[in-house]
Amino acid sequence: MLKHVTRTHTCGQLRAEHIGTPVVLQGWVSAVRDRGGVAFAVLRDRFGSVQITVDERSTDAARAAVKGVRLEYVLQVEGTVQARAEGAVNNKMESGDIEVIATSIQILSRTQPLPFVLDDRGESALEETRLRNRFLDLRRPLLQHNLRVRHVAAQAARGFLNGTEFLEIETPVLTRATPEGARDYLVPSRVHPGSWYALPQSPQLFKQLLMVGGFDRYYQIARCFRDEDLRLDRQPEFTQIDIEISFPSRELVMEVAEGVANAMWEATLGEGVGTIPVLSYADAMDLYGVDAPDRRFEMTLHTLSALLHEATFPPVRSALDAGGVIRGFTVKGAAAGSSRKVLDAWTAFVKEYGLGGLMWGKVAAEGVISGPAAKAIPEEVREAVLAELGAEDGDVILLGAGELRHVNPGLGRLRVHIAKERDLIPEGTFAFCWVVDFPLFEKADDGSWTSVHHPFTAPRPEHIPLFGTDRMGEMLSDSYDLVCNGSEIGGGSIRIHDPVVQAQVFEALGISETEQQEKFGFLLNALSYGAPPHGGLAFGFDRCVMLLTGATSIRDVIAFPKTTSAQDLLSGAPARVPTKDLDDLHVRSTK
Ligand code: AMO
Repeated sequence: MLKHVTRTHTCGQLRAEHIGTPVVLQGWVSAVRDRGGVAFAVLRDRFGSVQITVDERSTDAARAAVKGVRLEYVLQVEGTVQARAEGAVNNKMESGDIEVIATSIQILSRTQPLPFVLDDRGESALEETRLRNRFLDLRRPLLQHNLRVRHVAAQAARGFLNGTEFLEIETPVLTRATPEGARDYLVPSRVHPGSWYALPQSPQLFKQLLMVGGFDRYYQIARCFRDEDLRLDRQPEFTQIDIEISFPSRELVMEVAEGVANAMWEATLGEGVGTIPVLSYADAMDLYGVDAPDRRFEMTLHTLSALLHEATFPPVRSALDAGGVIRGFTVKGAAAGSSRKVLDAWTAFVKEYGLGGLMWGKVAAEGVISGPAAKAIPEEVREAVLAELGAEDGDVILLGAGELRHVNPGLGRLRVHIAKERDLIPEGTFAFCWVVDFPLFEKADDGSWTSVHHPFTAPRPEHIPLFGTDRMGEMLSDSYDLVCNGSEIGGGSIRIHDPVVQAQVFEALGISETEQQEKFGFLLNALSYGAPPHGGLAFGFDRCVMLLTGATSIRDVIAFPKTTSAQDLLSGAPARVPTKDLDDLHVRSTK
């Protein structure tokens, strides 16, 4: 207990059990009303709100002071908790059956006119206005709640890891480029003209060095920096719960991650994550078209290429002739409600993913299909196609034809879009799954191989013989992503600790000896001095908090977030600096 606290209670704490208690409260005024002889104010702090009443039981001084009180002033109120009169009970307030009869009201701080109304959902003002005045926006109960959940989740994660012999160790922020594949934020060196630090995209290389250094279980709640296109679940500066383990098995890393997730979910929502099913990357793509599937609802994808192999309808024919695929899914009971406008919107949606179009079909009695899908499906296979898709009278079927790399994301994202549009996603549920066995390499547009994760990801041991053969595209990695409700909330892998395998990966990626030394020399060097087998994973902590709070924007779970154009509107960053400062850094702006 602290000895020098100047309040007796928080505003959110008072209940009927406090009736008769003298209190000293501090907080902000979120409502104020003067009814002649009686004045009311609602006093709010981060714990909640309570009504302050000034009436004939109050002192003259309090009655005089309340006249000067305005919204969002900061007050210290002394008084006594009383039961409210019967007609005055407010069931919408947690402390709605009591009030504090003020004997003293001290105005500690006044405010200029507010730039916007502090409504809970933040709907009264443009987000830009709110971000510019984030210190006010943060007073909204919703953001107060979200940041409290964030704190509880972080402590729960720490608690679990501390309890399983992990050490929390910090790693540098001014460092060299890390291999996560996004663009780096660079910081010029004043002392070393022409040289630059990179802000870490993750602590990846340092946590591997810690393993070589003998810290066999490491974690860190780490800030990461990536200069990439932003989305609702991406920030240029975000937080990971970063974990690395020596002498791991994939199962051990997954067990630790499940322990962390479970601790966060239990501490904040009172319910753990249960047993998390494991799905292979291949199955995820096959069933859902994406590697971070939302499994809160069905509507899985099906491949129809074999059934339609004799189709003559041009989009189908040309896709198959070019080595592409035909895939599709069924929207149950959608035939009646899906107007031409809806179907056109779905078609436009998949075009964004590179699909030429969407072959839709409405299924009527006896499996009669109308719409473009009718032309795509030869009569002889109509029944078999409908059976494969699980489609019946009243359903809509949606088919996509083309290259797999367009068909999967197009249909996979459309599946989620339709589920949201048609309210098919049960609220307040969490569908976790592990996605494992990702390909080790993928082909870049120029035909060269790139790492799906990063170049230190170990291949599945049984795939090591495939290096250098024409089957490198089949190689799988010892990696795993944790997915919840269609969001990738964590990912990691077993690392390579054998220099021979590491060299094979670099060779496959076409990373020359010079480039290896330049980029990762310090890690490669360390790995040659008795590196233990190791592996780990990182949670995207902000995304976890989004799930725990139901936030739809990552900005609602970060105290001082950046806009989608990577600006901090509050401080005005990024900003120009005097030329003199640039000179000191040996940097010249071309703008
Ligand atoms: P990865 O790049 O998959 O792995 O990142 C781990 C998790 O971080 C989250 N994440 C982000 N969250 C918000 N904004 C972003 N811009 C952003 N980028 C990623 C995701 C993701 O699952 N070093 C490896 C981990 C390892 O192998 O141990 C890494 O960083 O939730």
